[in-house]
Order: sequence, then C-alpha cells, then structure tokens
Amino acid sequence: MSADRGLQFDEPPIFERGAPGRSGASLPGFDVPRVVPREVFGALSRALPAGLPEVSEPEAFRHFVRLSQQNFCIDTQMYPLGSCTMKYNPKVNEWAARQPEFLGLHPLCPDAYAQGSLEVMWRLSRMLCEVTGMDDCALSPAAGAQGELTGIMLVRAFHRAAGRSPRKVFIPESAHGTNPATCALTGLEAIKIPKSDDGLVHVEDVLRVLERESSDDVCALMLTNPNTLGLFESHLPAITKLIHDRGGLVYGDGANTNAIMGQVRPGDLGMDVVHINLHKTFTTPHGGGGPGAGPICFKSKLSPFAPTPVLVREGEHFRLDRDRPQSIGRVRAFQGNFGMFIRAYTYIREMGGEGLALASQLAVLNARYLWSQLRDTLDVATTQPCMHEVVLSDETLEKTTGVKTLDIAKRLLDHGFHSPTVYFPLVVKGALMIEPTETETKQTLDEFVVALKHIVEEAKTNPAVVKSAPHLPRLGRLDEARAARKPRLRWTAEPDGDNSPG
Ligand SMILES: Cc1ncc(COP(=O)(O)O)c(C=O)c1O
Repeated sequence: MSADRGLQFDEPPIFERGAPGRSGASLPGFDVPRVVPREVFGALSRALPAGLPEVSEPEAFRHFVRLSQQNFCIDTQMYPLGSCTMKYNPKVNEWAARQPEFLGLHPLCPDAYAQGSLEVMWRLSRMLCEVTGMDDCALSPAAGAQGELTGIMLVRAFHRAAGRSPRKVFIPESAHGTNPATCALTGLEAIKIPKSDDGLVHVEDVLRVLERESSDDVCALMLTNPNTLGLFESHLPAITKLIHDRGGLVYGDGANTNAIMGQVRPGDLGMDVVHINLHKTFTTPHGGGGPGAGPICFKSKLSPFAPTPVLVREGEHFRLDRDRPQSIGRVRAFQGNFGMFIRAYTYIREMGGEGLALASQLAVLNARYLWSQLRDTLDVATTQPCMHEVVLSDETLEKTTGVKTLDIAKRLLDHGFHSPTVYFPLVVKGALMIEPTETETKQTLDEFVVALKHIVEEAKTNPAVVKSAPHLPRLGRLDEARAARKPRLRWTAEPDGDNSPG
C-alpha cells in the first residue's frame, strides 16, 4: 500500500475532522459553524473563531478524575455532617433519572404527552402526604429554605383570606437560620422562644412568650421536629393546640424527617404545613439551596393557596392546573426539579413503607450509639439520648487544652472522616453536630469513635498537632474567611502557582 493512498473504508467516519468553521471534530448533521455569519449580527459578529482551549479526551478525563480524587465524598468516606444530612445517593436513582423518556421530556411539553412523568409526580406527592400525615403537596420549591418560604406564604394567604393579617411568627432559639430568614422575606416578625434547660420546647415556654406579645397577633409557630439538638419535641400536641386556639397555624420544619419516617407524622401532631428536604431524607443529591427539592405538604385548609401549577388527577389523567385565583402564584420555573422527584420516587419504591420506617430506626440507633460512646469524651448538648444526630460541645476541652471545635473538625480529616457540622446550633457552645445516618456500619461508627477519642487525648498531650491540622489532605488549613470573601477563581498556569483558595 502506498502512503498517499491512505486507508480507505466503505463507511465514512462518524466524526469528521476539520469541518468548515471549526478547528476540532464535529458530528455529521450538527455542523453549526463557530463563526456566526456577518449578516446575522453585522459588526458585532466575531471575525475569528473564539480561542477556546482544545483538549484531548484523555486530558479531559484525567482532569476530572484527578479532581474527583481530590474531593472528599460520601462514596469514599463517612460524611457525618449533622443537619445537612449527607445521606447516600443510591445508584439505582441515577439509573431511573437517566431514562431517556424522563430525561428527554421538554418542561413545556403539553400535559397530554407527559402523562407518565406527571403520574410519577402525583404518586410521589401522595407518598409524601402519607409520610407527613397531610392532605396535599406542592413539589416545586427548590430547597428546604424555599419550602419554608412557600409554606409561610401559604399561611399568610390563609390569614388574609380570612380578613386577618397577623405578623408574629414564634420560633425556638435553636432553629435553623432559614426559619427567621423566611419571616424576614415575607415581611413577618420572628419572635424568639428561648431555649429551655432540657433543649425541648415546653407549653409554658410558648405561653410565656405569647403572653408577653399581643396574643391576637399570632400568625404561626415554626417548629423543627426532631429539633436541631436532635431531640423529639414531645409536647407538640399541646403546643399546637395553644397556637390554634389563638388563630395561628403551625409550620413544621421537616428537615429532620429522616428520624421519624413511619414512626410519627407531623400532621397527626397538629402541624398544618411542613417542608421536606428530599436531599436530606429521600436520597437525592444535595441541593445547596438550588438544584434540590424542598416539597411542602399541608392540610386541605391551605390547598386553595398552593403554588401554581397545581397537579390534579382526573380519573386516569393528570393535568397541571394554572387557574387558581387564590394561589400564591408560581415559586419555581416549570414544575420544579423533576430529576429529583424521579430519584426520591425511586428510593421510596425501593424501600417501601417498612423500609423507610427501618431507615429511621437505624438512623436514630446509629446516632444514639455515637452519643453513648462519646458522652464521656466530650461534653454532650443533651442529657437524654438523641434522635438522628448527636450534638457535642468543646466547652471543657477548650478550657483545659485550648483546643477548639474547629481544630477537632480539621483533625478528623487526617483520620479519613469528613468534618461534622460545626458551631451549629448556635445555642450550644462550640457545637460539633454529628449525623451518621442509617447507612453507616457499626465498624465505621467504631472507627469514628476511636478517631475522636484519639484526637481528644492528643489535645491533652500534644495540642499543637491538633491546632495545626489537617496534615494529610492535599491542602492544609485554609484561611476560610479570606477564601470566602476573596475567592481566587482563576487557574494560574505556572507550575508552582498557588492555586489554593485564599
Ligand atoms: C433544620 C433545617 N431547616 C432548614 C434547612 C434548610 O434546608 P435547605 O438547605 O435545603 O435550604 C436545613 C438545612 O440543613 C435544616 O437543617
């Protein structure tokens, strides 16, 4: 064979090299020229192709694999982040969400052609109502925080429809910051219920605050259950009655539903509306306030105000109803994060009712095991055993050794554990909030206990090594405040360039 003849095949190549207007390869039939013709944008159009970097497939692949290896993730290590619940994401969820029939559906597709997807949403809504003991559900809010906002807007609309406009929302001191932030966003007033000695909200605590405030101005009580100290609010029915008697409604922050599935339901305890973080309880990827999902479930008295579009079932058909005169309106583009609904639905189908109840029991068992193993090592925030998360404190350790919660959290990285949530809830000094979830084995929990005990011992004998941790990860201790305020977002090409944040 002569060199100028080249190799000749009957089939043309799938990727054509050097297609017109492009420097790299292109797919036949998708040959969009990179330079838009001058007649389209005139003088504004580009004269030369954009100098986009061209990298080979192995280069791109290596880059992303290297990044993933530097990342600390739940696929490689325990991730005991309390409150944020880094629950595992079953791989079957990803399989389901990637089915072409779901993936390829345009969000503006007419209802008649999207019946399967609407049915999945409807079924998920019913399942969430069953878990929470509520009548109705709106899936669209994009995160727990947006669920709160939507729920409180429903409460406000309910009062307005009755010709009232109460402004006071009562919130325990230990609540997540998103609770008072929601009040601020809706123009309502957050009133603090001070923390009690045992960490629970008592009827007398609420009564005292209600009496101090003008009691005909009760818009709502916002209560997290189990609360952010990991305790079950056992006085709830009496408290909800107190609020209802004064015309207010009860908002349940259901971010911690992972602890109570199949055990008790917020609706049965007298709550009127509750949000659920699908990423905390139903194994969808963590949302970070954006691409997540924080559906709300509510009692039928709030249904007229539900955000549009409202998914309705008519016989065997499903329809998105936009004609809701009393609705608070749309809170999210399209129907919300549909991919998250598929994942949550898959998880619930995989587990079944009994499976979900068992998941909650194991989540509580695991956290209680850590509480019992660690209560003599560090200060514990609660004297009674916790539910799904255990909150420790650096109070004594800091006094005797100077080692703080942040140092412990950093040193845990050297032992192969992601840092737990730190300094939340604010009512606990130097809080270290650990949530193991149901999927960690006893062996992993024991390794975590050994690591924490080792660090506390080290704090007494060699505090400098704890205070300067972490020592093993690729980056040492960062100036986190500077990294947050002055992030360096560009990669510098110099081989010795400092690409660390801050
Ligand atoms: C108790 C509680 N409420 C509300 C939220 C807010 O949820 P999201 O992060 O989905 O906005 C969280 C998040 O961790 C939480 O723990």
